[in-house]
Amino acid sequence: MNVLLIGSGGREHALANALAKSPRLTKLFCAPGNPGIANVAECVSVDVADHAAVVNFCRLMKIELVVVGPEQPLVEGLVDSLEVAGIAAFGPSKAAAQLEGSKGFTKDLCARANIPTGAYGRFADRDSALAYARKQGAPIVVKADGLAAGKGVVVAMTTAEAEAAIVACFEGAFGAAGAEVVVEEFLEGEEASFFALCDGSRALALASAQDHKRVGDGDTGPNTGGMGAYSPAPVVTDAVSARVMTEIVEPTVRAMAEAGMPFKGVLFAGLMIGKDGPKLIEFNTRFGDPETQVILPRVDDDLLTLLESCARGKLDVPRVNLKPVSALTVVLAAKGYPAAPQKGGEIRGVDKANALDGVVVTHAGTKRSGEALVANGGRVLNVTGFGPDVRAARERAYAGVAQIDFADGFCRQDIGWRAL
Ligand code: AMP
Ligand code: GLY
Repeated sequence: MNVLLIGSGGREHALANALAKSPRLTKLFCAPGNPGIANVAECVSVDVADHAAVVNFCRLMKIELVVVGPEQPLVEGLVDSLEVAGIAAFGPSKAAAQLEGSKGFTKDLCARANIPTGAYGRFADRDSALAYARKQGAPIVVKADGLAAGKGVVVAMTTAEAEAAIVACFEGAFGAAGAEVVVEEFLEGEEASFFALCDGSRALALASAQDHKRVGDGDTGPNTGGMGAYSPAPVVTDAVSARVMTEIVEPTVRAMAEAGMPFKGVLFAGLMIGKDGPKLIEFNTRFGDPETQVILPRVDDDLLTLLESCARGKLDVPRVNLKPVSALTVVLAAKGYPAAPQKGGEIRGVDKANALDGVVVTHAGTKRSGEALVANGGRVLNVTGFGPDVRAARERAYAGVAQIDFADGFCRQDIGWRAL
């Protein structure tokens, strides 16, 4: 069958690599794609925000499945537009994508379905938010309700910090995303990510991962989209995984179906694993970036069939099979990331890194400039290594990094430290 993948980052390159392996694939298209994706798919310049244009393209090219990578088109209802046109799409509807698009929506659902998460208050005005934060005291977490490109969360160690964050939110620091604020209990423990595939009524555990959000070694400096990740996460034991499914994922899928907005796609749970077990920090309704780069190569089933089954509400296999390998990815970013990444730096050696045993390079923010490959974004490449354990995977990943010549780039040297 013909498949259209939406997106242009490292996550989508990993999706493209996995879909391209499917014996059921006739042709893979990607809008807009990137130079790495172009090795396994035809990159096309369809405007993803123009739903009619996407539907027309699908009709013209006889696309039978659309796989949506990033959150923005989900929140904008691309899946709804495709389904109205009779085209199967992997990803939640606009209503179901509220699990990522509105933190207050998710907290209310957790309260209704008895899902373990931090205590919270949800506020549409500054003074009640301030009063709640003062009453609860620090440490406390202040979150803009809507999508704020990962910047809408302040973990306040003092009441003064929490007050400043609330004031900033209501003064428009995050635009419309901050028109409502969630003030939430500070959770202690170890963070991990958990991914489950859902078809509207059923869910299957996919895999766990841990990422590194801070830009600098030792988890220092500003937050980023993620500087590296590994899978599986040792903290997510089989027992924890089973609890995440029964206490968090399954009740969510049930509650969403009951609310008339069945969740289809991948549910990405950000967890805090503390002494009482796993608690939900937040949901994303798409694959993680760079977590996808370490999860999908571990999948031992046909990804195209799994994603299509989710889209068609027919996820009727008993489990997702994983290979007994660990994967670890290192993000090469452009100097200046995350504040002001330098564009245009030349990159050499990607082929040499890819030629190493147990190493795969995915493109996150690159473009062609004549014959050269140059940086075209904050996160530029992901170098992923595979091995029998995290230590071996890390060795392969950094061996790959050593082959790449990117003078205007940098990476963290300590990805995986928590697992070692
Ligand atoms: P989020 O955008 O919700 O993932 O939050 C960004 C980061 O803030 C998370 O990865 C956590 O490190 C931290 N965080 C968010 N909520 C909490 C919480 N309730 N308790 C402790 N840390 C939190
Ligand atoms: N790496 C975190 C995310 O994709 O949201």
